[in-house]
Amino acid sequence: MPELSIKPKEGCSLRKPTVCQSFQRLLTTAVREIDIAGQTLKIHELGDVYDSLTGRAFTGSWIWDSALLLSRWLATSQFDLRDKFVIELGAGAGLPGLTAALLGASRVLLTDIAPLLPGLVKNVEANELEDRVEVRELVWGSEESLSRIGELRRFDVVLLSDVFFDLEEVAALGRTLKKVSGNKTRVLAASEVRFWTGECLNELASQGFKVVEVPIQEDGSDGGRDIFAVYSIIPPDEEECQKNTSGS
Ligand SMILES: C[S@@+](CC[C@H](N)C(=O)[O-])C[C@H]1O[C@@H](n2cnc3c(N)ncnc32)[C@H](O)[C@@H]1O
Repeated sequence: MPELSIKPKEGCSLRKPTVCQSFQRLLTTAVREIDIAGQTLKIHELGDVYDSLTGRAFTGSWIWDSALLLSRWLATSQFDLRDKFVIELGAGAGLPGLTAALLGASRVLLTDIAPLLPGLVKNVEANELEDRVEVRELVWGSEESLSRIGELRRFDVVLLSDVFFDLEEVAALGRTLKKVSGNKTRVLAASEVRFWTGECLNELASQGFKVVEVPIQEDGSDGGRDIFAVYSIIPPDEEECQKNTSGS
């Protein structure tokens, strides 16, 4: 097993003094129990899946605080997930998508890069949600993995949690977001607000998305704190989407 290296994230600076998530992270395999709307989700966090190129654990191996925030927001807001077809991009351990299934979504696709898929399958099985939740590989910007999804533009809801960390990745994410979103799709994203978050949101805006911050409870009862935000991301209209993505 590669040596564990637990360092603060490069450039990790926050608006108020706090400890970076990766600093706190203990890379052990654990099962967390998360209460959502009176039910409990069991989420396995993985301590044994490493990127062979960097020797580091994949960032999607554990639940990020943004995922907790998005799940609590879904459970406590008036947002109606009943009978909805939902996709989560960069799902990691899959908490928001599994929450959507618990809250009545009829079908959920949890997607991420290939090494994280066995962990996602484990979490679907741990919660006995196999009848409603599927796990698929979806690499942002990859036409090949998009072609395997096959149900583009049919999703009612797209969930994103802590995926605004790198400008190039966000550019690719935006291209994929256009392919999975129809003009009635609601895209909800939770993020820790870091120095580069604005730049990432600007990249989405430059691709024609409108980004609106959604109010979260000041008292933190939905998990919100002032270094986190939930955004509603409105895709460009469908005609515009097709124009911009044809041939890309
Ligand atoms: C910071 S983690 C967040 C994980 C999870 N959404 C959460 O909030 O707990 C970022 C996630 O984005 C995924 N990701 C990064 N780049 C990606 C790409 N190019 N295609 C697909 N997923 C990607 C990572 O594998 C990881 O699961």
